[in-house]
Amino acid sequence: MTTAPVRIGFLGAGLIATYHSQMLTASGAEVARAGVFDPDRERAKSFAAASGHHPVNSEQELIDGSDAVYICTWTSEHARQLQAAVAAGRHVFCEKPLAFDAVQAAAMAATADAAGVTHQVGLVLRHSPAYLWARHLAHDPAAGGVMSVVFRDDQFIPVQGQYASTWRAARDKAGAGTLLEHSIHDVDMLRFLVGEVSTVSAYTANFHGHDGIEDVATAVLRFADGAVGTLNSVWHDNLARPSLRRVEVFCARRQVVIEGHDWFGPVSWIDSDGTEGSLSGGELVEAVAPLRDGAGINPDGDFVRAVQQRQPAAPDLHTAVAAHRVVDAIYASAAAGGAAVTVPS
Ligand SMILES: NC(=O)c1ccc[n+]([C@@H]2O[C@H](COP(=O)([O-])OP(=O)(O)OC[C@H]3O[C@@H](n4cnc5c(N)ncnc54)[C@H](O)[C@@H]3O)[C@@H](O)[C@H]2O)c1
Repeated sequence: MTTAPVRIGFLGAGLIATYHSQMLTASGAEVARAGVFDPDRERAKSFAAASGHHPVNSEQELIDGSDAVYICTWTSEHARQLQAAVAAGRHVFCEKPLAFDAVQAAAMAATADAAGVTHQVGLVLRHSPAYLWARHLAHDPAAGGVMSVVFRDDQFIPVQGQYASTWRAARDKAGAGTLLEHSIHDVDMLRFLVGEVSTVSAYTANFHGHDGIEDVATAVLRFADGAVGTLNSVWHDNLARPSLRRVEVFCARRQVVIEGHDWFGPVSWIDSDGTEGSLSGGELVEAVAPLRDGAGINPDGDFVRAVQQRQPAAPDLHTAVAAHRVVDAIYASAAAGGAAVTVPS
């Protein structure tokens, strides 16, 4: 075991790279700021100025100078870059979605396993106090078991406004639209909150007309334990709604609602005897502290510690592969006019 600072390099110097760089600082983890590579040189320069990383001239130079590589590029680049990083024995933090489909995502996970490196995926809501608390409430025996869930996620299509994304309307870079690019988080949280999804039936729509980029995806999900729920994912043009989720979990004797902030709630609940509760902010953070199983609140701090201790990280690439399988099944169902599709286990 070593506690030497981990040399971190960034592939991609955009929005999410900036987020992870800031989270690394906030975590207090022992890191050495190594290179950053982005073909958009201006972006690499401003990221470097803000973070203490230094721009390098190629992906290979970036990989050579790092112990762990953050893959924060648009989706079409992830598989190739992960392959190059793990071939050099580098630990990897790869953004979601891993790839355009589960087959490629599974190949990435297998490659990382074979190389024996620590790997983590940017399914960051696994660290959210709100979702941890809601899962705890839903699986409390007093709740009587989960019967149903209603998961709504809407935001303005992020090619405009504060995101002004240059690539999310391009199928060759993003792979698909709101479900793959954004709501893979929601699929992951549905698995986290309720359990394995066994069958899906779904429709998608494309109002904006970007080729292959659906802007509505609505799915009925049957879970392996018998619960039935819905996921509704929408990319609209209402610039007053940048990114909003509302989740209702119906148990036999308890209803749980997550709304407001993805991390800090509030999470509210009501039981059949009329008992009500609501937690948000610091109270929520405190309530979930004993539920964390050693994990922290900061995904990036946890990743660096896992690398230092040569331990597996969480959530790892396999967690993402499982979410990709559900996403693929939803697209397959939509392509078949809403026919039921079984999710391969
Ligand atoms: N976990 C989350 O909550 C979350 C949030 C936002 C984005 N993401 C994911 O992060 C990834 C990036 O999204 P973003 O919003 O930061 O996009 P962005 O456009 O802000 O940044 C992407 C950067 O990658 C660079 N790039 C493209 N090809 C490259 C290459 N071959 N080598 C190095 N750099 C390259 C681009 O020039 C761009 O600067 C996407 O996969 C996205 O889905 C995850």
